[in-house]
Amino acid sequence: MQPTTQPDNPNSALSEIVSRAALERMIPYTPGKPIWEVKDEYGLERIVKLASNENPYGASPKALEAIREQLSELNRYPDDRSRRLVKALAGHYELEETNFIVTNGGDEFIKLLSEAYLEKGDEVIVPSPTFSEYEFGALLMDSEIVKVPLREGYRYSIEDILSRVGERTKLVYLCTPNNPTGTYLPRNELQELLDRLPRNVLVVLDAAYHHFASADDYSNGMEFIKAGYPVVVLQTFSKIYGLAGIRVGFGAASEEIIQAILRVKEPFNVNALAQAAAVAALDDREFVERTRALNAQGRKQLYEGFERLSIPYVESMGNFVLADLGERTEFVYEELLKRGVITRPGRGWGLPNCLRISVGTEEENKLFLEQLDVIAVTNGIDFKRL
Ligand SMILES: Cc1ncc(COP(=O)(O)O)c(C=O)c1O
Repeated sequence: MQPTTQPDNPNSALSEIVSRAALERMIPYTPGKPIWEVKDEYGLERIVKLASNENPYGASPKALEAIREQLSELNRYPDDRSRRLVKALAGHYELEETNFIVTNGGDEFIKLLSEAYLEKGDEVIVPSPTFSEYEFGALLMDSEIVKVPLREGYRYSIEDILSRVGERTKLVYLCTPNNPTGTYLPRNELQELLDRLPRNVLVVLDAAYHHFASADDYSNGMEFIKAGYPVVVLQTFSKIYGLAGIRVGFGAASEEIIQAILRVKEPFNVNALAQAAAVAALDDREFVERTRALNAQGRKQLYEGFERLSIPYVESMGNFVLADLGERTEFVYEELLKRGVITRPGRGWGLPNCLRISVGTEEENKLFLEQLDVIAVTNGIDFKRL
């Protein structure tokens, strides 16, 4: 039977369908510009993408091999709990298997956590500027966001965070190293914050970039789960393992918290290729070590380049650097795009004078710095005088 439509306006019924009011506050995520789009837009052959904190050396070779081996099994549903990966993670981090949930990227973990824990009117403390998905999760659940600005040099202030905790506070996000600033919360301050927070407040420590953190007093939070604090640690395979395109991440927490989050998980949330890739990548020490070492060199290369151009920057514990290019940041961003270099402008984080540059290969970093210099010279931009 043909569906009945109103002949004068077949879409008129759609306007009667009302979406949730909570959606009105939600702003869609703006990803880094994709390579193909910049190629098409500017008719360019070579693009250097330094916009999404990906691994510039490709994916873990062990992961790629595991994906190839898994291909013949694609007619089967994946393991609903990613058990092989959970077992590998438990061994790797010396926790129990019951302490892990594997998700379709770290992003899915944030959404699941929000669905499991947030009620309308709950407050979520978000030190800012930071990764935007925390806000997404809170708004999705009709919760309220309490932004706590980072201090001078984008340092965390635990006093500022504690001063905003109230009866309705449910979650405190700590992105460490923080995207987009690259700053981190030292272990002793994390310990103090956890000791002083009420026990009914859950701390979400986003350690997406923890492999890149070289400071001795950095903590990825796992030790605090072991010590029994109400902490959830989020991690991803998108960064050091080079698996951003296949989508896999995980959360670690006490068994009770993991059980609550599992209740809102779709059965087959992580595909079979991603599971196999992540198991292999976790074991690919050589690739991880090489990426870590090259990233540290790349950060230094960017710092030196910025110093030559007298551009202020923030020392980073991640695989990206935030630089202050002053009032002409948007112009410089556009000019870089025209020359095939994609970076991330800071406006989305309320940092209109900043650009976030992901650390690329030595050649990519060099090309970026050269182009930055050319743009400055040809347009009479003197970063020194900003
Ligand atoms: C701080 C932070 N957390 C989590 C994620 C999510 O990573 P994914 O969803 O790719 O696993 C990202 C991605 O850029 C990030 O920057």
